[in-house]
Amino acid sequence: MAIQLFVPTFDVDACLAQVRECLEKGWTGMGYKTVEFEEAWKKYTGLPHAYYVNSNTAGLNLAVEVLKMQNGWADDDEIITTPLTFVSTNHAIVLGKMKAVFADVDDSLCLDPAEVEKKITERSRAVMYVGFGGNTGRYEDIVELCKKHGLKLILDAAHMAGTRLNGEIPGKEADAVVYSFQAVKNLPTGDSGIICFRDAECDTIVRKLAWLGINKDTYARTISDGGTYKWKYDVEYVGYKDNGNAIMAGIALAQLPHLDKDNAYRRTLAQWYTEGFSPYADRIRLVETPASCESARHLFQIIVEDRDGLMMYLNANEIYPGVHYVDNIEYRMYRYAEGTCPKARYASDHIISLPMHLRLSYGDVRRVIQTILEYLYKVKQ
Ligand SMILES: Cc1ncc(COP(=O)(O)O)c(C=O)c1O
Repeated sequence: MAIQLFVPTFDVDACLAQVRECLEKGWTGMGYKTVEFEEAWKKYTGLPHAYYVNSNTAGLNLAVEVLKMQNGWADDDEIITTPLTFVSTNHAIVLGKMKAVFADVDDSLCLDPAEVEKKITERSRAVMYVGFGGNTGRYEDIVELCKKHGLKLILDAAHMAGTRLNGEIPGKEADAVVYSFQAVKNLPTGDSGIICFRDAECDTIVRKLAWLGINKDTYARTISDGGTYKWKYDVEYVGYKDNGNAIMAGIALAQLPHLDKDNAYRRTLAQWYTEGFSPYADRIRLVETPASCESARHLFQIIVEDRDGLMMYLNANEIYPGVHYVDNIEYRMYRYAEGTCPKARYASDHIISLPMHLRLSYGDVRRVIQTILEYLYKVKQ
């Protein structure tokens, strides 16, 4: 039987009940379940604000734009970021007409605080931090660095739904935290995400900007005749159509009660992998996770010399791993930073993400481990 990288598991009955409710009520768009999920997410994370959007990508774009607007940043001001991420992270900076300045990663594959500090200039305005694979890396040092240098902090928490740091959901220290509930993430929907601003004013703005810039409150607040002028609204910004909808939010509501136990099983899988590989540190390097981090384990990655050869061998044995991610500096549009982040480039050429999902058994994990060892110690010699 083939072993896939990601297979999401849904509580099908609970999801269908949520969707049925939407259909019966006749409300599938923005509002209703989206508001219910925002409340549930705030309660789960302890973050003060949450706005449900149609993807993490949309949320990152909005985070940069709102923070830029609120803090008076200029075009071409700089955001320090990681090259080892999905392009959404860095595109958000460019779409916000700012400059993506790349800093290198450390052994957690997250930004290295010392490398970030080296990249700070007069024009630095923020750090974009990715909790890679659910790992916090040295997030606390990044928080301190941002405080010291007066930089804003955006946390791309696409992989971090459910990650704890010192027993708590991290992010209260960041100016914006953006989660992904895309189809194969730890809390899967179809496509959606949520943006959690620290500042109430930013939360108010994002609700308008994500919906064409429309401000419904202007009239709603002044009208006392029972809503005759409901159709009348003001438009304050050139905005987007980035809002989430009730169908997706219903699925998110059905999945949220499973998140912590799902993540616990992911950590069990990671533990089995770790134990299986530990005698083979000469050929298999693991990504470092600090002891204070209880990772959501969206990914389990290893670093090997001949990644591409291993990948082909695994495929030939019906095991289908992935690569997260190619160093963004290899892409044409970010090539201006060529040569600046050697550790990220090394990782990009040598990392492999092993199958990580809830349908994997101990036997499956053993099969993956055995096949990898077979390649590295027998086929390759
Ligand atoms: C690190 C990272 N950031 C952002 C995203 C974008 O998330 P979404 O698909 O919800 O837009 C992803 C998705 O894979 C990701 O891995």
